Amino acid sequence: MRDINEANITDAVIQRLADTPDPRLKQIVTGLVRHLHDYVRDVEPSFEEWQLAIDYLTRVGQTCTDKRQEFILLSDTLGVSMLVDAINHRLPEGATETTVLGPFFVAGLPELPPGTNIAGNISGEPLFVGGKVMSAGTGHPLAGAVIDAWQSDDDGYYDVQRPELTEPALRGRFRTDAKGYFHFWSITPHSYPIPDDGPVGAMIRATKRHPYRPAHVHFMISAEGHETLVTHIFAEGDPYLDSDAVFGVKDSLIQTFAAREPGMAPDGRAVTTAWRTLERDFGLKPT
Ligand code: BEZ
Ligand code: FE
Repeated sequence: MRDINEANITDAVIQRLADTPDPRLKQIVTGLVRHLHDYVRDVEPSFEEWQLAIDYLTRVGQTCTDKRQEFILLSDTLGVSMLVDAINHRLPEGATETTVLGPFFVAGLPELPPGTNIAGNISGEPLFVGGKVMSAGTGHPLAGAVIDAWQSDDDGYYDVQRPELTEPALRGRFRTDAKGYFHFWSITPHSYPIPDDGPVGAMIRATKRHPYRPAHVHFMISAEGHETLVTHIFAEGDPYLDSDAVFGVKDSLIQTFAAREPGMAPDGRAVTTAWRTLERDFGLKPT
């Protein structure tokens, strides 16, 4: 095809994709071209603006390291991650709602004994986390389910953001007992800003948004015959629940982290300071 112009270029590119053997790939690339061309027609960028966009995406890529994923952050802050999540998780009754994975998950942690304190010697208000994992629908407890939990420290940082830490901190992997129960100790989380010293932070500031996420603990729970659940539990009362920087809050995931006086914890531990409990059950969708 010759004499390509504003009116026929989209069809010309799409025709060039006609021989793509994988039908799903063909659909994905065709849709990308169509929407990208529509976007350019809508916004009508100048050459300078288009170059700025290319420079921006280049910087997003250059900001990624083995410890930092700026593209996930961009997807999260533009609401794309939660849209993909919503499309892929049309859940049955009884299933815990999902939310973003975020960039701070670490795979392959060793399993810890029940009741381990994942805070180690990191200071904070003690938090007892416990609950039951069930199959959504039947409500049957799931024995042997694997729970990964992770959260930030009192300064708002995950362990992977602290180069001085050589061991995992404020993250751990646990397994449910025969009745589907698990428990561990941590510290009460606080709201924190997403990493905003890179190109995503520049976008956040240029659009007069704030970078904060409401206080939460992350959970990834997997069990045989069930879809892996990726979610958080958010702290009731947090000032950022209605303006999460990554659009991840759902009502069903908000819970009171109940304040306790010094005394005996559910696992028999004597706590000498004020502490909190997060007691929460999870329902997994059968595959
Ligand atoms: C997080 O909660 O860890 C997170 C999620 C999305 C973007 C940044 C951080
Ligand atoms: Fe987080």
